[in-house]
Amino acid sequence: MSQLDHCYNIADLRNVAKKRLPRGVFDYIDKGTEDMMSLSNNLNVMREIKLLNKVITDISDVKLDANIFDRPAAMPLAIAPTGTAGLAWYEGEFELAKAAARAGVPFTLATGSNTPMEKLANEAGGRLWMQLYMWKEKDYSDELVKKAARNGFEALLWTVDIGHGANREHNLRNGFATPYVLNTKSLIDMLIHPVWLSCVMGRYFLNGGMPRHVNYPKGYQMPITGNVSKLEDKKPTTKRADKLSWDDVDRLRDIFPGKLLIKGIMRPDDAAEAIEHGVDGIVISNHGGRNMDSAPAPVQVLPEIVRAVNGKMTVFVDSGIRRGSDIVKCLALGADAVLAGRATLYGTAAGGEAGAVKAISLLKDEMKRTMAYIGTQRVTEIDDDVIWNNPLNS
Ligand SMILES: Cc1cc2nc3c(=O)[nH]c(=O)nc-3n(C[C@H](O)[C@H](O)[C@H](O)COP(=O)(O)O)c2cc1C
Repeated sequence: MSQLDHCYNIADLRNVAKKRLPRGVFDYIDKGTEDMMSLSNNLNVMREIKLLNKVITDISDVKLDANIFDRPAAMPLAIAPTGTAGLAWYEGEFELAKAAARAGVPFTLATGSNTPMEKLANEAGGRLWMQLYMWKEKDYSDELVKKAARNGFEALLWTVDIGHGANREHNLRNGFATPYVLNTKSLIDMLIHPVWLSCVMGRYFLNGGMPRHVNYPKGYQMPITGNVSKLEDKKPTTKRADKLSWDDVDRLRDIFPGKLLIKGIMRPDDAAEAIEHGVDGIVISNHGGRNMDSAPAPVQVLPEIVRAVNGKMTVFVDSGIRRGSDIVKCLALGADAVLAGRATLYGTAAGGEAGAVKAISLLKDEMKRTMAYIGTQRVTEIDDDVIWNNPLNS
């Protein structure tokens, strides 16, 4: 029996991940930012939403099938981009993409991943979306976007909620940064996790050396221990664009023929603007509580954004999905589908592709049970009348 067989929910997968990963890597995945207010609020708000049982009804044929951008999906779920999947498992993003393909849901590859987009396009199968962080040199970003289009990526998901970078103090305490800065603390952390060291880092070394941000433009493609002092601004990060406008959306619209999504929308006026600029979908997201610590939970702003959008584009929501019932709650509040970040990443860290498949199937099973309890057999029929004393009704 594998460890995965003893995992009965996402929290169990998280526990396995916690044991397997060096603390720096685990905390990077698990924690939020500053005082962890937005992270805990994401989870608490989700818990506070209560659903009403519907009884004496037909629940003999509950189906989770969904339509995402006019194509069938096994459930209303897509895998969110997570930049460090490649440290959770060797080529973790490849494992996640294969799991998503097996489970019949779309997968989003993060800009900061360690597996080339070509490998996913050629070998992973399934529906692939590409996430973009825009660089100051906008030509670099356009290059990545065009490459994603050439490789047949179905959607481009532009993440816009990064401000001036996140203040994740735990990373500094743990000696964890990207690029990875090796110091005594992070070295000991790795050495006391020999399985991770050999199965993840060891495999990278056998296959060409330290993991790299292989989808970055050439000039930024340093190994994850890249020598920061060589960067012009000496910051352990790439130079992300800090001067953005809706013209950038128009440019992306022009150069990317597939679906265009904006991730990190939290206000109805921004959602309305996105519609004006021909965007196909938005992800209401506070980045899993990892960026602005004073952000509300996305489900708190979901109903008013859904009202503003009024069916004119697809609305996804993420941040705080840990149970299938959370997906039902998001749909009841008006989302078309959700993105899962940590839930499937814990699965990947616990067992690669098999662990990610396990995470998705747990969410699926829990969602199906919840739909039976509320007496709804189809995802399109999930409505806000299943929410008790809707705390988000304004
Ligand atoms: C370890 C980690 C890395 C992430 N990296 C990215 C990224 O590179 N790009 C991005 O748009 N979002 C990134 N996110 C945010 C996720 O896409 C998603 O918004 C968030 O995880 C949702 O919250 P949840 O983890 O509670 O499901 C990351 C999240 C985690 C946990």
